[in-house]
Amino acid sequence: MCGIIGCVGRGSETLDTLVHGLSKLEYRGYDSAGVAMADERVSLCKKSGKIEDLRDALESATLSGSVGIGHTRWSTHGPPTDANSHPHQDCQGDVAVVHNGIIENYQSLRDELVAAGHTFTSDTDTEVVPHLIEDALAEGAEPEAAFRQAIARLEGSYAIAAVVAGTEAIFAARHDSPLVLGLDDGATYLASDVPAFRDFTDQVVYLADGEFARLDDAGWEVTDSDGVSVEKDVDTIEWDPEETGKSGYDHYMIKEIHEQPRALRQCLRERVDEMAGTVDLDDLGDLSPTGVQFVACGTSYHAALYGAHLFREAGIPAQAFLASEFATSVPPIGDALVIGVTQSGETADTLSALRAAQKRGARTLVVTNTVGSTAARECDHAFYIRAGPEIGVAASKTFSSQLAALNLLTLGMTNSDDAREVINALRELPGDLQRILDESRAEDVAEMYADAGAYFFIGRGLQFPVALEGALKMKEITYKHAEGFAAGELKHGPLALVTSETPVFTVVIGDDEKARKTVGNVKEVEARDAPVVAITDGQTDVHRYADHVLEIPETHERAAAVLANAHLQLLSYHTAAKLGRNIDKPRNLAKSVTVE
Ligand code: AGP
Repeated sequence: MCGIIGCVGRGSETLDTLVHGLSKLEYRGYDSAGVAMADERVSLCKKSGKIEDLRDALESATLSGSVGIGHTRWSTHGPPTDANSHPHQDCQGDVAVVHNGIIENYQSLRDELVAAGHTFTSDTDTEVVPHLIEDALAEGAEPEAAFRQAIARLEGSYAIAAVVAGTEAIFAARHDSPLVLGLDDGATYLASDVPAFRDFTDQVVYLADGEFARLDDAGWEVTDSDGVSVEKDVDTIEWDPEETGKSGYDHYMIKEIHEQPRALRQCLRERVDEMAGTVDLDDLGDLSPTGVQFVACGTSYHAALYGAHLFREAGIPAQAFLASEFATSVPPIGDALVIGVTQSGETADTLSALRAAQKRGARTLVVTNTVGSTAARECDHAFYIRAGPEIGVAASKTFSSQLAALNLLTLGMTNSDDAREVINALRELPGDLQRILDESRAEDVAEMYADAGAYFFIGRGLQFPVALEGALKMKEITYKHAEGFAAGELKHGPLALVTSETPVFTVVIGDDEKARKTVGNVKEVEARDAPVVAITDGQTDVHRYADHVLEIPETHERAAAVLANAHLQLLSYHTAAKLGRNIDKPRNLAKSVTVE
C-alpha cells in the first residue's frame, strides 16, 4: 500500500535519494508517486503510474532544496490521477504533505475548510492536512506547532510527513500506520518501511503511536503529543540490502521461493534441541494456553488454520478467524491466548482484531516476520519467523516459515506425543525442500494447463490450508479463477463446476483414513473428466486416478504441507510467467494492507 520516504542531509543527492527510496517501496503496491522538496519555497512533482513515469516528469521539473519527502500512493479516496497523487499542498503552495492511512473525519474538515475559503484540487482525504497547516501558519504558529495543531484535528489512521517553505526540516507523526527513522552520519531518513533507506543505513528508530518526529540538519528528535522529548532505542537491522535485490532471478517471487530452505534454517536456528526433543521459544515464558484463537488474513490466515490444527492435535481447543470478521464480531474469548499471524505486522484488519482481543482482556501473541512492527510492539509477546525481507506481493517463503514457526510454537507450549518425530521432520525439511525446488515438474504441468479456465485445489486436514493457499497464489498472480476446498466439501456444491476444462490439484499425504477419503474425492472428479494433478508422497494409489503426479518424499504430514505447497508455488509462478503477468506486483494488490 502507500509508502513514505523522507530525507534530510543528503544535499544535492536529496532528489535521487527520494526516488531511490520510492523504487524500494514499489513492492508494497501503488498506482502513483510523487516527491516534494523545500528550501525557501516548496517544489514538487507527482504522477499517476509507475516510478518511471515520475522519473520522466522530473526531467522537465525544477525541484530544489536539501530536504524532501516522497510517496507512493495506493488509491483509496479518488482514482489514481496526477491530482490525487501525493504530496498535497495548501492554497499558497507553501506546504507539502504525504500521508498513509485514512482520515475518517476528512469530509467535515474539508467542508469547514471550503467554507473558510480554501480551494481543494484533489478528491483525497489527505488534502485537508496542508490546508489545516496553512490556517495555523496564517494565525502565526511556527511550522512545527502548525503541524501539531493540524494533526490534533485528525481522526483515523495516519503516518504523515510534511515540509514547509522556508524551514529545512521534515515534520512527521504517526497513528496506526508505521513510520521509522533511519540514522546515518550527517543524514536522517524517514520511511514507512525500512527497505526505503536500507541501502544507506542499518540504524533505525521506530516511532510509536502518538509520537511526532522532527528531522533537520541538527539531527532528529521524537516527541510525544505534548511536545515532550521521548528517549528512543536505536535498533540495528539484521538483514543485508542485497536481500532486497533479485540476485539474478527474473522475479522476486521465484527468488523468494528458492530462499525457503535458508529461511527455514533461520527459523529453526538455536530453537530446537534435537537431543532432548524440545523447543526453546526464545523468551516467551510459560504461556500455557487453555485455548487459542488465531486471527489473520490471506496467506497468514491459511497458516493460522494450520496452526489451529496443530494446537487441536495437542488437545488444546483452537480456532482460526479471519481477522476482518473477528474485529467486528468478537466471539467469547474466555482466557484464550489470541495469536495474530502476520508477515508484515502492519495489516490493519489483524491489528484491529488483536486490539479488540486486548480490550477484552485477552493475552496476545504475534507470529510475525517484522521486528519493530506495530503488531510486535503492541502484542504481549512476539515470535519471529525470521524469513528475511519478502518483496514479492504474493507471500511465498513467509508462508513456509510461518508453518515452521507454528510447529515450534505448539511444540514449545504443549506436550505432543510425537514431538521427536516432528522435530526430526523439521530438521530434514530444508534439505527436502531444496530437492523439490531442484526437481519439481511443476513447470511442465503449468505449461499444460496455462490456458485452463479455472483451477481447483483440494486437501484434507493439514493439507486443506495448503489447498487454500495453492488457490490464493494461483488467483493472485495469474488472475485466473482458482478455488481451494476441503476435499470432502467438493461434492456439496463445487463439483458442479468441475469439467474436463478445470484441472483439479489434490494434496494426498500418508495412507491414513484422511488420505483414503481424499482419494475417493479424486475419483469423483476423475469421473467428471477433470484433469487431476496429485501432489503426493505416493503412499496411496492416487496416482492411478491422476494425470500427473508431483512427488514429495515421505515425511511427517506437518512437514509434507510445506513440501506440497512448494510444488503449488512453482505451479502458480510458472503459470503466471507463461501468461506474462506482473508477478511481483499483481494488479490491484498491495504487500502490506494498512486499511480495513
Ligand atoms: C499473500 O500472498 C497476500 N499478498 C495476502 O493475502 C497477505 O497474506 C495478507 O494481506 C496478510 O498480510 P500479512 O501477513 O502481512 O498480515
